[in-house]
Amino acid sequence: MQAAKMKGGGSKVKGRDLTFILIVLVCTTIIMLSWDRTPLLLSASLLPAKDLFLSFLPSIQFAEVSPNLTDMEKKDKVVFTEAAGQEDQAAEKAPSLREAAEGDPNQSLNMTSQGAVDENTSEVGDKRVCNYGKGKWVRDDNVPLYSGFDCKQWLAPGWACRTMPRTDFSYEMLRWQPKDCQLQRFNGDEFLKRMQGKTIAFVGDSLGGEQFQSLMCMITRGLERNDVLDVGSEYGFTIPNENGRPDGWAYRFTTTNTTVLHHWSACLCDLEPIVTEDPNQRHHYYAMHLDRPPAFLRENLHRIHVLVMNTAYHWTRQKLIRNRWVMHVGGVRKTNETLRTLGEAKNFTIHSVVGWVNSQLQENPQLQAFYRSISPRHFSGGDWNTGGSCDNTTPRYVGKEVVEAVSSDHVSRSAVRGTGVKLLDITSLSSVRDEGHISRYTLTAKPGVQDCLHWCLPGVPDTWNEILVAQIK
Ligand SMILES: *[C@@H]1O[C@H](CO)[C@@H](O)[C@H](O)[C@H]1NC(C)=O
Ligand SMILES: *[C@@H]1O[C@H](CO)[C@@H](O)[C@H](O)[C@H]1NC(C)=O
Ligand SMILES: *[C@@H]1O[C@H](CO)[C@@H](O)[C@H](O)[C@H]1NC(C)=O
Ligand SMILES: *[C@@H]1O[C@H](CO)[C@@H](O)[C@H](O)[C@H]1NC(C)=O
Ligand SMILES: *[C@@H]1O[C@H](CO)[C@@H](O)[C@H](O)[C@H]1NC(C)=O
Ligand SMILES: *[C@@H]1O[C@H](CO)[C@@H](O)[C@H](O)[C@H]1NC(C)=O
Ligand SMILES: *[C@@H]1O[C@H](CO)[C@@H](O)[C@H](O)[C@H]1NC(C)=O
Repeated sequence: MQAAKMKGGGSKVKGRDLTFILIVLVCTTIIMLSWDRTPLLLSASLLPAKDLFLSFLPSIQFAEVSPNLTDMEKKDKVVFTEAAGQEDQAAEKAPSLREAAEGDPNQSLNMTSQGAVDENTSEVGDKRVCNYGKGKWVRDDNVPLYSGFDCKQWLAPGWACRTMPRTDFSYEMLRWQPKDCQLQRFNGDEFLKRMQGKTIAFVGDSLGGEQFQSLMCMITRGLERNDVLDVGSEYGFTIPNENGRPDGWAYRFTTTNTTVLHHWSACLCDLEPIVTEDPNQRHHYYAMHLDRPPAFLRENLHRIHVLVMNTAYHWTRQKLIRNRWVMHVGGVRKTNETLRTLGEAKNFTIHSVVGWVNSQLQENPQLQAFYRSISPRHFSGGDWNTGGSCDNTTPRYVGKEVVEAVSSDHVSRSAVRGTGVKLLDITSLSSVRDEGHISRYTLTAKPGVQDCLHWCLPGVPDTWNEILVAQIK
């Protein structure tokens, strides 16, 4: 029923003028999926995918979280919703953000033409560069760049929708066509040549992990390769953390000595164990230093050539509690008076880390840094833990222009403004791809729980990489 309803919304648009402009109101940061032990399943030792799946899949994640919010969480839920409203510039124009958060499909896409203002403004200094966020999805028989049946070396089973009971794969056959410029078709060999001797690093949460796996599959076209070295040890990725997996994965293509890595840093901030003498305390708490970059960046920035950062869905009270994260600023534990909402804390952290990277650019002339804007979720009729779904499997906005004046991710946009860090703006173009999520086919969730946050691979994150590669100098 839900799917039919959503489709109805789509054909209504179709009936109108083809040049109709979709203004995408993205309402993403409301309540986040509880996804701490995120399914980033790459194995250092390249175990057969099945074993990987068994050993790394966070099968308990959903089960651990009570479906009933405690009073405290309820309170935070409200606070956070308000915070998200403040953050989201679009919210100012949309009286019904709250409803959008509830997943009404009509609300998440407001179709007007108000985006015309400022439409040519670019985020990168004063230079007129292509705004890759503007454009449309078009059908293309030449995509995807790899098969979801293949790429077993790099692609987590939990994201390989081809191996799931899903039957509609039309989402794989779309290419992003920017409005005012061409997006080169990705070629793995050319990319490696361009990245000769260089290192590209994705630092962030599980969606950064998806982008990393996507790039590995794109480079290899999903084909098995035995000339790729596991160089995780060079980055300290060998020791499993307390969640039983390492904090990252790093691989080197020996032909060109190109390194591609992902470092898991869900908050994009520095986490430091708080050591206590208390013998009854079985687990460490962590000081979550909102104003300090992850230690990994401090230690490795000098040998990174392309950096892609993100953080988004771990800024909930629930997650802070479960991760035993305690917010600190200036080395001092923060009370709720100074960082009233987690939305503000996240905003503060993104500004801090982007500011810090910017301050390091001069010393690291090799570095090109990007902050990736938020990846939209598409829970409809509820949230991830209250029956929210994304049942539509068919692309609905093919050929419709997505015109974003400026990025709809206000926080990311403001964080990079005036810095040498570029915005990798994927929010709006991903917003019109609700069919591209893992949806009901998720391997990890309890019955009835859908994953409308992570994306099928091959899929939308491949396009993020194409846009990234287009902007690498
Ligand atoms: C959740 O709340 C409902 C209604 O308040 C109650 O019937 C149900 O037993 C609760 N479930 C859990 C797991 O506490
Ligand atoms: C985000 O943080 C920046 C820098 O700390 C601040 O200037 C801005 O007002 C904040 N925005 C929100 C919505 O909190
Ligand atoms: C969406 O809008 C259409 C037309 O305005 C309406 O018929 C439909 O019921 C709406 N759907 C929802 C979920 O409100
Ligand atoms: C879309 O935006 C316009 C202009 O801001 C507003 O009047 C209209 O109610 C909005 N429609 C929906 C469905 O939110
Ligand atoms: C944006 O650029 C196009 C072509 O370059 C131009 O026709 C259009 O008027 C510009 N729009 C604005 C709002 O400046
Ligand atoms: C290959 O790259 C790594 C790290 O980027 C570097 O340490 C090493 O010296 C390079 N090896 C060669 C043969 O260039
Ligand atoms: C948090 O804020 C509330 C209301 O503003 C206040 O009553 C409470 O004491 C604060 N807690 C801390 C730890 O500062």
